[in-house]
Amino acid sequence: MQIKSKFSSSGSGIFSVTDDLLTQYDAINLAHGTPDFPFSQELIENAHEAMQAEGSQQAPWAGLMVLREKIADKISFLYTHSYHPDTEVTVMPSAKEAVFASIAAVVHAGDEVIYFEPSVDSYAAMISLQGATPVAIRLEAPHFTPDWNQVRARINARTRMIIINSPHNPTASVLSEADVQALRDLVKDSPVIILSDEVYEHLVFDGDEHRSMSAYPDLAARSIVVTSFSKVFKVSGWHVAYCVAPAILTREIRQVQQYVMFPADTPMQYALAAIMEQPNHYMTLSTIYQEKRDLLAHGLKSSRFELLPSKGGYFMLAGFGHFSDLSDVDMVRKLIVDHGVATLPLSAFYSDGTDQAVIRLTFSKDDETLEEGARRLCEV
Ligand SMILES: Cc1ncc(COP(=O)(O)O)c(C=O)c1O
Repeated sequence: MQIKSKFSSSGSGIFSVTDDLLTQYDAINLAHGTPDFPFSQELIENAHEAMQAEGSQQAPWAGLMVLREKIADKISFLYTHSYHPDTEVTVMPSAKEAVFASIAAVVHAGDEVIYFEPSVDSYAAMISLQGATPVAIRLEAPHFTPDWNQVRARINARTRMIIINSPHNPTASVLSEADVQALRDLVKDSPVIILSDEVYEHLVFDGDEHRSMSAYPDLAARSIVVTSFSKVFKVSGWHVAYCVAPAILTREIRQVQQYVMFPADTPMQYALAAIMEQPNHYMTLSTIYQEKRDLLAHGLKSSRFELLPSKGGYFMLAGFGHFSDLSDVDMVRKLIVDHGVATLPLSAFYSDGTDQAVIRLTFSKDDETLEEGARRLCEV
């Protein structure tokens, strides 16, 4: 049977190749940002308790009110903006689904959506699925910050949305106050909606701070902010996330959710609502992850890789073009097969597969894994 694919490329083939090789060679996993160190025992106990009590019933579509209230409280505490839990906060099965629902809710066929590359591969696919055009703007090494003049040049009457992601996966860059001001100036007289992917909001290093769109009233009024519990509470196997947005946008997002998704799992929602009463769980994360970043960087000091700045999130980029002619995909293969360390090629995060001889490493792992991974990479 012949079908016309809706996708412009073969998609994320390299991710499954890396997964297969990783398993085959039992490699150290510095490829996936899935934290492998212990998380709060209390959280598990909360979930267990909720499962035994009322937790086996489906939650309301928009999420348990108790969790939505905690989310609104957290945002008000950190970023001062008040979202109404009833009409402006929506719990989602994952951040990925929240991003999809947001795009599907407001982007129409023929629209254009600006986003920055490299990026997680799903943005462009989700935009294309709406019959809209993804407009990729390059973030350039080594700092990978947006060139707002380029953004200005690409905005036109068809531009419906700009997607931002800070802290950024895969480059580990963080939007500065100047970036936010530039964005503000760009959109102020336009109908453009901002979709802000803030899943790494609690991981900003070196004394800098996360700049949420929720913290700027004029931007919050036109923004959908998406974040995820999986990164905060190190429960990447529990898919609970949320998005906050003005009621007029939330209404549309919830329609998409209702047509194509189920609510997030009920026991996990109860468990997360209870643990959110203790802000120390997320307030201490930057320190923990900064130490992990520094541990990995220290371990790689005597390697031949050139480390790029990692300002937030839990990734670090490393260049090898000065000592090898391999493509980044071949380097990733070689590192797994010959050295037993899995990483990802940066080219996988560009829609046209741009290869800059750079790999992405994660430091969201226990210290022994990071030390052993670094030791092996020093042998390259
Ligand atoms: C930038 C970014 N957005 C969204 C997601 C998806 O998060 P979730 O696991 O909650 O779906 C990820 C996951 O890795 C990510 O890196």
